[in-house]
Amino acid sequence: MKSEKHILVIFGASGDLAWRKLVPALFDLYVQKLLPAQFAVLGVGRSALSNDEFRQKMAIGVEQFASFKHKPRETVDEFVKYLNYYAFDTMNGAEYAGFKQAITLLDAQVGTGGNYIYYLATPPSMYSIIPKFLNEQGLHDETHGFKRLIVEKPFGYDLATAKKLNAALLGQFEEEQIYRIDHYLGKETVQNLLVTRFSNTIFEPLWNRNYIHHVEITSSEDIGVGNRGGYYDGSGALRDMVQNHLLLLVGLVGMEPPAVMGSTSLRNEIVKVFQSFRPIRQEEVEKYVIRGQYTPSVIRGKQQKGYRQENGVASESRTETYVAMKFFIDNWRWAGVPFYIRTGKMLPTRVTEIVIHFKPTPHHLFAGNATVAGSHNKLVIRIQPDEGLLFKFGMKEPGGGFKVQEVNMNFHYTELRDTYLPSAYERLLLDCMLGDSTLYHRGDAVEAAWAFVDPILKAWKENPEIPVHGYPAGTWGPDVADNLFDEPGFSWR
Ligand code: NDP
Ligand code: BG6
Repeated sequence: MKSEKHILVIFGASGDLAWRKLVPALFDLYVQKLLPAQFAVLGVGRSALSNDEFRQKMAIGVEQFASFKHKPRETVDEFVKYLNYYAFDTMNGAEYAGFKQAITLLDAQVGTGGNYIYYLATPPSMYSIIPKFLNEQGLHDETHGFKRLIVEKPFGYDLATAKKLNAALLGQFEEEQIYRIDHYLGKETVQNLLVTRFSNTIFEPLWNRNYIHHVEITSSEDIGVGNRGGYYDGSGALRDMVQNHLLLLVGLVGMEPPAVMGSTSLRNEIVKVFQSFRPIRQEEVEKYVIRGQYTPSVIRGKQQKGYRQENGVASESRTETYVAMKFFIDNWRWAGVPFYIRTGKMLPTRVTEIVIHFKPTPHHLFAGNATVAGSHNKLVIRIQPDEGLLFKFGMKEPGGGFKVQEVNMNFHYTELRDTYLPSAYERLLLDCMLGDSTLYHRGDAVEAAWAFVDPILKAWKENPEIPVHGYPAGTWGPDVADNLFDEPGFSWR
């Protein structure tokens, strides 16, 4: 589906996100003929760039980061003609009149009918300021054309600031105009979770406390904080990954089937899961939430810095680069089923996967399945890399007797030969262009997720004696994280 004609304004167009993700995703849409004929990008930043300089810079980003591997020079040249640039200081309200003139002129030239999408890819301190000044200029008003606002993460720093940001945005734009992005929702395999659960009859009857022993979610990265130390040191893994991406995965695993596949229905079900999280009280934090920080080590013969040696990181920093936690969803479906989630930087490999551990058979007939931990049924949903599904089950070991052996049924997305997996930003940008907010967060979901992590943040802040466990870069995080599993035989997969 092609979207209506419009201008996409990228606030923060001279920055990293626009260069590495947004404009390359637009190129991928262009190649697939998914952009409307009457379309333009208006990039905004303070750097003084001419249209040509901006186009040249973005062309390099497209070459390096667009998903389509085949990028003939003339296609890139045609594409960058859509790109325009206007420099101004978005903190200064007096400069918005000039911006309004620029966008009105471009609108008239291209014939985009007053349809504007604003993408906030600036430092988060501007997320409430830009909408206010846009509103003052009447640039939120939908009398002549739609006006949509995409807000990047981080959406707040804690519950109080998230509420404040929601209130500030809703003072200037309507909820239906606001698109809060979480790029995990744009991932093909994350969406496939819904299809796996709700288009197959075999999973849903088992998808509950009667058959599932526990759920485990891992999102590990084999890189450190790179050049984002300044941002990361004020954030940490709980804010950066858990509050948004990991809780979203829990929401999709835990939700009830939506009544219809639409924005309100789907988002209602995700919010209900978030609202059913059993709160982790401040005094329980040390028991249920393990935090860690990577320390210097040698990986494959190469010296690796510790987190505290990274650029932009305080030398005594206690910011966590690893979190593992255990919690419960107190509702009819999940009562008593533990959810274990973990994420970390500088772990041995990059992998995001969900493992559904089914309960063992009620009676053990054969050797080899006698313990709870020895249950053979596991469904592994691989989000990245090597996207796919793996089901583990027990089979008879050939030969005498009845010995059970664990075997696999394995599906890899790559087996769908001609299938192109769109990037998360490509999918999400297109959805916003089409006015579909299903894969964007609603304000109440963001607040419910913050409400869950807030007591943890408070406990860490108020009780410095809660340890930040060091783990050598390149290892699977602090060993104490295994203590979260209180039944014998279990540990992180
Ligand atoms: P950068 O620091 O690379 O870019 C910031 C952008 O904001 C630049 O274009 C800068 O323009 C512009 N800007 C800053 N102040 C002003 C101002 N007063 N007036 C006008 N423009 C201004 O950040 P990123 O691109 O990395 O990130 C942008 C946002 O996206 C952040 O909030 C980040 O948290 C979020 N994000 C980034 C991701 C990434 O992979 N980079 C991933 C997920 C979220 P100039 O320098 O020309 O002044
Ligand atoms: C971002 C975090 O939201 O997600 C980063 O800010 C993290 O710290 C990234 O590296 C992980 O995304 P992905 O798509 O690589 O799993």
